[in-house]
Amino acid sequence: MDSDWDPFDSPSSSDNFFDRDRHVLFLETLYHLLPTDYQNQEINRLTLAHFVISGLHLLGALDRVDKDAVANWVLFFQALPRNEYELEDGEFYGFHGSASSKFPPDNNGVLVHNGSHLASTYCALAILKIVGYNFANIDSEPILRSMRNLQKPDGSFMPIHTGAETDLRFIYCAAAICSMLENWSGMDREKAKDYILNCQSYDGGFGLIPGLESHGGATYCAVASLRLMGFIEDDLLSKNGSSSIVNAPLLLDWILKRQASDGGFQGRPNKSSDPCYAFWIGGTLKILGGYKFIDVISLRGFLLACQSKYGGFSKFPGDLPDLYHSYYGFTAFSLLEEPGLNPLCVELGISDIAAMDIM
Ligand code: FPP
Ligand code: ZN
Repeated sequence: MDSDWDPFDSPSSSDNFFDRDRHVLFLETLYHLLPTDYQNQEINRLTLAHFVISGLHLLGALDRVDKDAVANWVLFFQALPRNEYELEDGEFYGFHGSASSKFPPDNNGVLVHNGSHLASTYCALAILKIVGYNFANIDSEPILRSMRNLQKPDGSFMPIHTGAETDLRFIYCAAAICSMLENWSGMDREKAKDYILNCQSYDGGFGLIPGLESHGGATYCAVASLRLMGFIEDDLLSKNGSSSIVNAPLLLDWILKRQASDGGFQGRPNKSSDPCYAFWIGGTLKILGGYKFIDVISLRGFLLACQSKYGGFSKFPGDLPDLYHSYYGFTAFSLLEEPGLNPLCVELGISDIAAMDIM
C-alpha cells in the first residue's frame, strides 16, 4: 500500500478504478468487528463470515486472517448426532448459522435445539475450502445421510428439518454441498433436475418454484445446480444449446434483456439495477457461455457507481455499503477479469483456487 494512501479520501466521479486496497481494509475491519447494524443478522454469522473470508480470498488478501482460528470457529457450528439412532431421527445434521441456533446440550448431552441449515452448511464448507482445511477430517457422513431428509418427493429441498419454504435456493445449496464433499449420496439428482426444469417459465427465466415469476437469483440457482450435478455442459450455448434439457435460446433471450440502460443488471423486468445481479445474472451467462454478449464497459461503469468510499459496494449508488452487495460486487469484478482479483468458480460462488481440487 503506498504511504500517502488516505482511507477517507473518497474516489471522485472521475476516479474510474476498482479500489482494491480500500475493499481489503473494509473486509479486514469487518473480520475483526461487525457494526451493530448487523446485530439482527446474528443467526447468519456463517453467511456473513463467508462474505468476508471469501471476499478477502477473491481480493488476494487471505493473509489478513488466521486460517486455523477461522477453521476451528467454523467447525464449532457443526451439529453431530451422538449415535446411529439419533442420525435416523429425521433431523438434519449440518452446520448452524450461529451460536444462538446451537443451544448447548442438556444435562444428558442431548442437543436440545438443532438449527442446522442448508445455507449455513454451504457457507461453512465454502469457508473451510478457502482456508485450506483438509476435508478428509470432516465427518461428512452425518451431513450427507441426514440431508436426504430435507428433499421432498417433488425434488425440492427444505432448508431445515423443521420445515420452511422449499425452492431452488436449497436445491442449489444441497448441490454445492455434495459437490464440495465430492459425494452425491446426499440428494436424489434426478428428482432435483425434474424440479428445476419445472421452474423454467414461459419467458425463459427460472422462478424459485414452478409457476413463479422469473428472477435472476432463481435462474442462477437453476443453472449452477444443473451444471454442478452434471446435467448441462460448460459453455452450453456454443455446444448444444438447442438440444439441451433447458430451453437455452429462450433463457439467453430473457437473461440478455436484464442489462438495463444504466449498464447494470436487474433481477427481473421493471426493477432497478443492483450490483448483486452482476453475479446472479452475469455468473449464469458465464456458465452458459453467453458473457461475451453483454456490454462490459457500461456494466463496469454501473458497478463503479455503487463502489463505496468506505470500501465495499452498496445496492444503489451513494448508499452505505453492505456485506452482501460487497461480496457480489467483488465476484462481479472477478467475472470482468479485473487485474489483481482471483478468478471465480462461478458454480460454487467462491474463488477458483479454493474450488480447484474438486472441479
Ligand atoms: C427478490 O427480492 C429476491 C428473490 C425472489 C430471491 C432471489 C434469490 C437469490 C438472490 C438466490 C439466493 C441464492 C442462495 C444460494 C441462497 P427483491 O424483490 O427484494 O429483489 P428485486 O427487487 O431486485 O427483484
Ligand atoms: Zn441486490
